[in-house]
Amino acid sequence: MDPWHDEAWRNAMRVRLSIRGVFSDVVGEEGGISRSALDGLMPRLERIRTDIAAKRAAGEMPFMDLPRQDVAPILDYAGRARERFDTFVVAGIGGSALGNIACHTALRHPYHNMLPPERRGGLRVEVPDNVDPERLAGLFDTLLLGRTVFNVITKSGSTAETTSTFLVIKEQLQKDRWVGSRWREHVVVTTDPKSGDLRKLATRENLVAFDVPPGVGGRFSVLTPVGLLPAAASGIDVRELLAGAQDMAERIAAPPPATRPLAENPAYVGAAIHYLMYNHARQPKRLAVMMPYAHALRDVADWFRQLWAESLGKEKSLDGRTVNVGPTPIKALGATDQHSQVQLYAEGPNDKLFTFVGVDRFARDVPFPDDPDLKDLNAFNYFGGKTMGELLKAEQVATTLALTRKGRPTMTITLPEVRPYTVGQLFMLLEVQTAVAGWLLGINPFDQPGVEAGKIATYALMDRPGYAEERKRIDAELRGTDDRAL
Ligand code: PA5
Repeated sequence: MDPWHDEAWRNAMRVRLSIRGVFSDVVGEEGGISRSALDGLMPRLERIRTDIAAKRAAGEMPFMDLPRQDVAPILDYAGRARERFDTFVVAGIGGSALGNIACHTALRHPYHNMLPPERRGGLRVEVPDNVDPERLAGLFDTLLLGRTVFNVITKSGSTAETTSTFLVIKEQLQKDRWVGSRWREHVVVTTDPKSGDLRKLATRENLVAFDVPPGVGGRFSVLTPVGLLPAAASGIDVRELLAGAQDMAERIAAPPPATRPLAENPAYVGAAIHYLMYNHARQPKRLAVMMPYAHALRDVADWFRQLWAESLGKEKSLDGRTVNVGPTPIKALGATDQHSQVQLYAEGPNDKLFTFVGVDRFARDVPFPDDPDLKDLNAFNYFGGKTMGELLKAEQVATTLALTRKGRPTMTITLPEVRPYTVGQLFMLLEVQTAVAGWLLGINPFDQPGVEAGKIATYALMDRPGYAEERKRIDAELRGTDDRAL
């Protein structure tokens, strides 16, 4: 039986949010918010919860219903791919790449791609996530194309980075003596079920295709085939990932009578704290640092950075006013960035809200030996009998304490351990927190007009048909620009 059907196991695997370090009675007036300010936001949060329930009922927030999808086609394709191929390359960018990287780093062996195939338990996965020519050309140097499958992911079906990369992939496959005219068997696409040129291409060429469900934006798509197919191919248990996401969805959006008080709801409380900090009367916290203390969660912070920035950074409010709002997300990593960023965090401007992400247990730990040769050297002799996991956790506590003493607000998300069930919870928690924060800020968290403008300018500069007028505008803007290097 799958362990998540057992209530005791589920309870032991619950992701937790601790918020003590955000209150002014702990970090002072300059850094903290009052408990009454948080309580005072509850009626507004209650209205948002009612709105979200209505939107979900109307099918307008489909990302929250993703955990219930049928993953049989994904498992079936991934199973066949694992028999036939050795390497799975994701061609996609932004929301079509970052969730994959986050899953891979969190849920696979830290050196997964370097392990021999029989020890990997899944395909080698590569996500170049850029159109840097050296990076892509370098990747091809490492691939045996006859043993490689390319997953071309773009929801819109037209993002220049992805469609251009596909051209290179197709050419390389066609030129390969082991692949040639069978190139189609080495391509699987993930895109909108109906619209876009990639869908047209998939239909025309009879390519295997998976859908990005309508209404789910790129940065909310990690739990769609966008994230699940590469995850399954690399050997991640995607059913457990979804079970964890479902657990969190129920915790934060259970309908009555199971509804829990909002004050116990980690997504709403997290959003409320971010909102209050952003508008802090004494010293606004316009920067949001996420700092995992588990290397496995490093790229979850990167995924969150996009989710938070693209969802909340907006020019216009929902009622059309110019607001230019949005916290700036920063990713950091403990303990690495203690030796890079923490000096600034502790003594620089008190303009940041810190979210630490820690774990109760590491999947593997490294014990420190009690070395008899080094007993007289105090830099070495106190580790004996302890573990590296204990050291990293001590560093997390120490940094939290140091920031608290300096009046810097912190909260902590804790995963009992890093596994699909807890990472699924974390994804859902942060996605709902983002949506709620968007409504508190009075903006639409689901659009990205600023990104679209850049995409359009790129099309024009690269002479995509239909963008000639935009090209003329750009040329006029650039004419006469003084671009002398200094
Ligand atoms: O969250 C988003 O919508 C964006 O970051 C997209 O994921 C990104 O721009 C890539 O778009 P597409 O999947 O259409 O290629």
